[in-house]
Amino acid sequence: MKNILYSVTCFFVFSSMSYADQMTATKSGCAGCHQIAMKTVGPAIKDIAAKYTATDIDGLVTVVKAGKKSGELIWGSIPMPASPAPEADIKKVIEWMLTH
Ligand code: HEC
Repeated sequence: MKNILYSVTCFFVFSSMSYADQMTATKSGCAGCHQIAMKTVGPAIKDIAAKYTATDIDGLVTVVKAGKKSGELIWGSIPMPASPAPEADIKKVIEWMLTH
């Protein structure tokens, strides 16, 4: 019984954690251009997760903060605007993206 309670609690803690990160992605404007499984304006979150690992997180935070202009693009021909979101939120969203 204890074990069941423990797993149920873990389930809620972890699912609400990822929900919170998804809310940060929405609040930070990332979700408008990045969908989980489908390339829209920006690359799919799954494709970003397939290309990068945890050691790339800090570099990606810098990239997202600065935005990407034509000439720097590697996914297509659409630039990414510099993000006005707080750095801690950007980092949280990228960490969340890489879990997909
Ligand atoms: C207006 C649309 C738009 C918004 C908003 C946006 N992105 Fe992007 N993002 C793009 C595009 C387009 C690319 C592909 C750039 C390229 O071709 O190199 C991209 C690329 C990326 C990459 C991969 C960068 C690389 O060099 O491989 C990451 C990570 C990323 N975005 C994260 C974010 C996060 C986090 C946010 C929110 C803070 C965000 N994006 C907001 C359009 C957007």
